[in-house]
Amino acid sequence: MKAQMNRRDFFMGTAWMVMAALAAGCRLNRLGFGEGGSMQNFAFRKLGRIRVGFVGIGGRGTSAVHRVSMIPGVDIVALCDKNQDRVELNMKWLAGNNYPTVPKAYVGEEAYKELCDFGECDVIYCATPWALHQPVAMRALLGGKIALVEVTSALTVDECWELVETSERMKIPCMQLENCVYGEIELLELNLARMGKFGEIVHAEGAYIHDLREVISSTGKKSNTEWIWRYGENMLHKGNRYPTHGLVPICQTLGINRGDRLDYLVSLENGPHNANYEYFKKEFLADDDPRKKDPPAEMGDMNTTLIKTAKGKSIMVQHDVSSPRPYSRISLISGTKGIVRDYPFRCAFEEKCFDRGAHKWFDDQKAAKIREKYMHPLWRDVSDMARRVGGHGGMDFIMDLRWAYCLQNAEPLDMDVYDLAATSCLCELTEKSVRSGSRPVAVPDFTRGNWRNVEPWGVVGIDLGKMGLDAGAVSKDDASLNV
Ligand SMILES: NC(=O)c1ccc[n+]([C@@H]2O[C@H](COP(=O)([O-])OP(=O)(O)OC[C@H]3O[C@@H](n4cnc5c(N)ncnc54)[C@H](O)[C@@H]3O)[C@@H](O)[C@H]2O)c1
Repeated sequence: MKAQMNRRDFFMGTAWMVMAALAAGCRLNRLGFGEGGSMQNFAFRKLGRIRVGFVGIGGRGTSAVHRVSMIPGVDIVALCDKNQDRVELNMKWLAGNNYPTVPKAYVGEEAYKELCDFGECDVIYCATPWALHQPVAMRALLGGKIALVEVTSALTVDECWELVETSERMKIPCMQLENCVYGEIELLELNLARMGKFGEIVHAEGAYIHDLREVISSTGKKSNTEWIWRYGENMLHKGNRYPTHGLVPICQTLGINRGDRLDYLVSLENGPHNANYEYFKKEFLADDDPRKKDPPAEMGDMNTTLIKTAKGKSIMVQHDVSSPRPYSRISLISGTKGIVRDYPFRCAFEEKCFDRGAHKWFDDQKAAKIREKYMHPLWRDVSDMARRVGGHGGMDFIMDLRWAYCLQNAEPLDMDVYDLAATSCLCELTEKSVRSGSRPVAVPDFTRGNWRNVEPWGVVGIDLGKMGLDAGAVSKDDASLNV
């Protein structure tokens, strides 16, 4: 009788989720692969030299231009922005740093279309505001170009399916530029996981907790336009619109889309207490400033999302950009034999059964030893150079080196279109759950069952010599590489 009840409960729960998802207009699963087949573990043909065109060179795009200009075998051939001054600024920087060629300029709101359709390049590197990521990536793929797209790469489930199906049909990779996958602690956790040090991983936590009040208030940075579009997104939406920094590294470590998959989620959000009143009702804002609207933001301060995987693991992802809290991605991996978390870095492992004591983390000295001993080889080999180049403590440069290395050596990129879709789709799904009283929402299986056939991401490296990079050839003073 009890078993019958359980089965019935399970059926009702599942049926409810499917009906809710269908009612919400989300396409849960498509029937099968397009003519191209799966893009998991797909290696693009070897590219000797990689020609890159940038779209969107504000704050983030400009730092990407600087980093990529330092990678041997990668040529910046085009710069595109809707604003002429952004293109000019980057042209000037490249010329001032003796860049050997002059990229072609594409200026205007629609200029990316010409670049994607006709530009002489292999890769489109997109760092526009979020709403343009998917349209630029689609245009790039249809124009025969590899799409590298900043986070969050797509804002709806349908946009994600479009990218999946187009990448498959065109047989061209589409990668989300999730730099946090290459952070020291995230890589350490991956390394520990692959060595079996966590035992079986049962739970993970990640976050984007970043006090951005200065950026989205008018006293913020003048060098970019982030506050305008980011604030626009926060005004209109609830849910987690920036889930990937916390979630993607967890997915890589847990083998999401590779042995497991995100099954369903529930999302809960508080109100926009900080986001509304403290910062945006200032007298110095112009009358037509969108931040004067009352109440200005839909988005609450803290969004907490819980995800259950098909294999029964749990994941918590948080988003808060308006509270006076120190930065945190949490980065917590917990298994049957141990736990690691960051902010601050802490760890504890069951060395012998119960000898650790239930209430103790390893002391700082022991934790530092673990951090050193199990450091991911990629971080060990490249982080010194990457830190000098800069970009979030070096992880940005490691990310750029990795996609370049993979494309130069015909290896699959570290993140594929399914990883992009499974994580970016949370924008729409978390908002749906929040707006429906935190009800469960199913996450589509973008791999259409292929997650059962693919091995988890391994412990990867870069052969710097093969890339023509000498780790010692870094000038600390101007953070540039003498290559
Ligand atoms: N991965 C990270 O750590 C990280 C860090 C910062 C920003 N980002 C992401 O990078 C992206 C850009 O952020 P940002 O801070 O540089 O914003 P930004 O506003 O400074 O830059 C956006 C640029 O896109 C340009 N743009 C807008 N519409 C365009 C169009 N139609 N065609 C061509 N260019 C267009 C703007 O003129 C601007 O120069 C965002 O998606 C953001 O989330 C990621």
